[in-house]
Amino acid sequence: MNAQAQPTLLNSKVESFINRPRTVLIDGRWVAAKSGKTFDVFDPSTGHPIAKVAACEKADVDIAVAAARKAFDDGPWPRMTPSERGRALWKIGDLILENLEELAQLESLDNGKPIGVARAADVPLAADLFHYMAGWATKIEGNTIPLSVPYAPGAEFLAFTRKEPIGVVAQIIPWNFPLLMAAWKLGPALTTGCTVVLKVAEETPLSGLRLAELCQEAGLPNGVLNLLTGFGETCGAPLAAHPRVDKVAFTGSTEVGKLIVKAAANDLKKVTLELGGKSPNIILDDADTELAIAGASNAIFFNHGQCCCAGSRLFVQEKKFEDVVEGVTKFAKGIRLGPGLDAQTEMGPLVSQTQLERVSGYLRSGADEGAKALCGGKRRGDTGYFVEPTVLVDTKPDMKVYREEIFGPVVTAIPFKDVDDDLINRANDTVYGLAAGIYSKDLARAHRIANRLRAGTVWINCYNIFDAALPFGGYKQSGWGREMGHDALSNYLETKAVCAGI
Ligand code: NAI
Ligand code: MG
Repeated sequence: MNAQAQPTLLNSKVESFINRPRTVLIDGRWVAAKSGKTFDVFDPSTGHPIAKVAACEKADVDIAVAAARKAFDDGPWPRMTPSERGRALWKIGDLILENLEELAQLESLDNGKPIGVARAADVPLAADLFHYMAGWATKIEGNTIPLSVPYAPGAEFLAFTRKEPIGVVAQIIPWNFPLLMAAWKLGPALTTGCTVVLKVAEETPLSGLRLAELCQEAGLPNGVLNLLTGFGETCGAPLAAHPRVDKVAFTGSTEVGKLIVKAAANDLKKVTLELGGKSPNIILDDADTELAIAGASNAIFFNHGQCCCAGSRLFVQEKKFEDVVEGVTKFAKGIRLGPGLDAQTEMGPLVSQTQLERVSGYLRSGADEGAKALCGGKRRGDTGYFVEPTVLVDTKPDMKVYREEIFGPVVTAIPFKDVDDDLINRANDTVYGLAAGIYSKDLARAHRIANRLRAGTVWINCYNIFDAALPFGGYKQSGWGREMGHDALSNYLETKAVCAGI
């Protein structure tokens, strides 16, 4: 770790934001949890508490859902002109950019990610999502449909579809990209005219709370966005099961995703899910070696491996295996670990003690089952939740480190002979299907492989490229539905067919 470098001095707005116990937004007002309970938020680089937030429970969920229900059923939001709604979303995007430094610092402090990454990626991407979705407000259209009705010869009809907002949406998000996940969820829900109760992750509630203030400043009517802080079982579960919610959108573990589906089954709420992954990143023998090494490293080490789409299974064609693995190992050894707010830091700590234990458990299990760590393989230091970037070889398909999502900076490098030698089956041999990467100079070959991969995103000669216009989501147990792009709108719309005899 890099003890010498000076941490970024906290912006005075950030200081005052974290120094007051935070309340939650319900029906346009900032209120404490009904029970008066709070919980601590920790700096993952030290494990020390940095802020206090409200511990919302079922009683708070009930009030928040009632507020969202009233705002949807009787309020102005779904009824105002699409142009007005679009302008409010645009304003949210502008306000995010105006407060970029404050949001980036909050994100880095709370999640542990490098401040440079929060400034360059998390915050601008969140702003861009709102700007992108603002444009859709005025472009959500149905169709006119010519009818043939065989039992009504000669009759004439005017038939068309209307796209209507689905209603009150419960949204539950994780801690790996706290602000960006809030944006991915809120953008399409708000632009379509839905109202929302959003529960942010208990590990990282700060940037979401600040975003909710900015949404109010942008002029969202009371009750359109209600934002709660609280734990999964006591706040998330009653929200997902709430009978007055029309739809649940969840990002997080596949395990909790399955609980959400069960909770929603009672009254058949609509559900979308963005869950885990164990994504294959495939380096072919004709790849540009430097590009492939940089790409493979970024695919797993970006955000400390805490990405649902992390390229955690690195398949390298035999001829290139040694060079690529050596290059990725060298890259891993050179990564500078440190607190997110230190400007020199390239990789911060994992988000929590729980994640440190989870990832450490995988590293132990890999070692016990015979996997070899070419670098890393353990915790770094004894303060904060730092784990060394790790490259594993000699893994077998039945090992836990090979099959399960580790969600840390741990890649498994696997050699293969040729594409026809079962590469596709091996790449697809996972319960997940979120993302995949292919590195090759032969684009036709790369595209043929891309077509055969069962994954919601395939990156060719690049990795981790995200854009508000590009849909993202999973095949198989990686989820239901897509975030971003115009695909995301359909998650929040009902189609009404109107048929008039004329
Ligand atoms: P989690 O799925 O438990 O938490 C995600 C969100 O769901 C949080 O807001 C949490 O409060 C909420 N939640 C938890 N239990 C709930 C319940 N019963 N009902 C409703 N909401 C509930 O994920 P966690 O424990 O933070 O991480 C565990 C693993 O999940 C990670 O190691 C990683 O493998 C995976 N994960 C995947 C993410 C993704 O982007 N797809 C993000 C975070 C975690
Ligand atoms: Mg959990």
